[in-house]
Amino acid sequence: MILVTGAAGGQQGATGRRVTELLLDAGQQVRAFVRADDHRAEELRKLGAEVFVGDLREIQSVRQAVKGVTRAYFTYPVTAGLLDASAAFAMAAREAGLERVVEVSQLDAGPSAGTPHMRRHWLAEQVFTHALGDRAVHLRAGVFFENLAVQAALGKLAMPLGGPDTWIPLVAAEDVARVGAGLVLADPDPEPVCLVNGQMATVGQIAAAFGVPYEDLDPGEWERRAREVYRDEVAVEHLSHLWALFRFIGSGHHPLFVVTPSIRQYGGRDPLTLAGFVSAPGGR
Ligand SMILES: NC(=O)c1ccc[n+]([C@@H]2O[C@H](COP(=O)([O-])OP(=O)(O)OC[C@H]3O[C@@H](n4cnc5c(N)ncnc54)[C@H](OP(=O)(O)O)[C@@H]3O)[C@@H](O)[C@H]2O)c1
Repeated sequence: MILVTGAAGGQQGATGRRVTELLLDAGQQVRAFVRADDHRAEELRKLGAEVFVGDLREIQSVRQAVKGVTRAYFTYPVTAGLLDASAAFAMAAREAGLERVVEVSQLDAGPSAGTPHMRRHWLAEQVFTHALGDRAVHLRAGVFFENLAVQAALGKLAMPLGGPDTWIPLVAAEDVARVGAGLVLADPDPEPVCLVNGQMATVGQIAAAFGVPYEDLDPGEWERRAREVYRDEVAVEHLSHLWALFRFIGSGHHPLFVVTPSIRQYGGRDPLTLAGFVSAPGGR
C-alpha cells in the first residue's frame, strides 16, 4: 500500500492527485490522504484508491493513515503549517517503518535560501532525513507552469522580474508527479536529493508562450495585487521573495538553472514544454 498526500489535488499543481493516478495505472494499491470527503474524494474512490480523510498537521491523524503502508509521496501546499505537517509525517513514517518517503521540496532549498518558505522546506527535509535516513527522498522542483498560468490568466504577465531576459527555471506539475511516482517505485534506492527542471525560459519567452504581454511591475504593487489573488500570506511572502531572487539573477548564470535528467530517468519521457502545456486542453 502506498500513501499519497494532497491526493485531492489543490490549486498549486495537484501533484498528489496526479501521483495517485499514475500509481493506480501502474497497478499499485493507493491510500489517498485528503482533507475533506468531497466530490474529489469520491472521484478518487471511483478510480480505485482507498480514501483516508484527515489533517496532515495532526500526528494522530497521520499515524492512522500510515498503518499498513510501505511507501509514501508527501506534498503540502505553500501555506502555513509545512513544518507541523512534515514533522508529523516524518515521525509517523519512522514509527511505522516506511521503506521510502518522497517529499516535495523546492529547487534551491537550503539554510540560506532566498525565500523564508524555501528555508522552511530545507528544515522539513532535515526533519525527514533525521527520522528516516536515506529512506527519505527530497524532490526539489523549479517553478510550476501552473504558477505562471495563474498570472497569465489575468491577461498580462505583470510581475516584478526586471527585463524580459530574466531567466526562470520551469517544470510542468505533471512532470513533477511523474518523477514523484517514479521515485516512489524506484529500485534500486534513488539518491536522497532529486532536482527537477523541465525547461529554462526567459520571462519574455514565457509571456509569448501564454500569448500575453510582459510588464515589469513594481514589487510593492505586485504584492498588493497578489494578496487579492492568492489570499494567503505565506504564498505571497514566498512568491514576492522568489521574484526578487529571479530579478536579481536576471540574465546571469545560476548553477541550478539547467534542465535536469530526472524527468527522463524517473518520469520515463522528455519534459513537457511550456508550449505543449499551453496548447493542451486546460493548459491556461
Ligand atoms: N507552485 C510552484 O511553482 C512550486 C514550485 C516548486 C515546488 N513547489 C512545491 O509543490 C508543493 C505543492 O504542490 P501540490 O501540487 O501538491 O499542491 P496543491 O495542488 O495545492 O495540493 C495540495 C493538497 O494538499 C491538501 N492539504 C492542504 N492542507 C492539508 C492538511 N492540513 N491536511 C491534509 N491535506 C491538506 C489540499 O487539500 P484541499 O484542496 O482540500 O485544501 C490539496 O489537495 C509545495 O511543497 C511547493 O513548495 C511548488
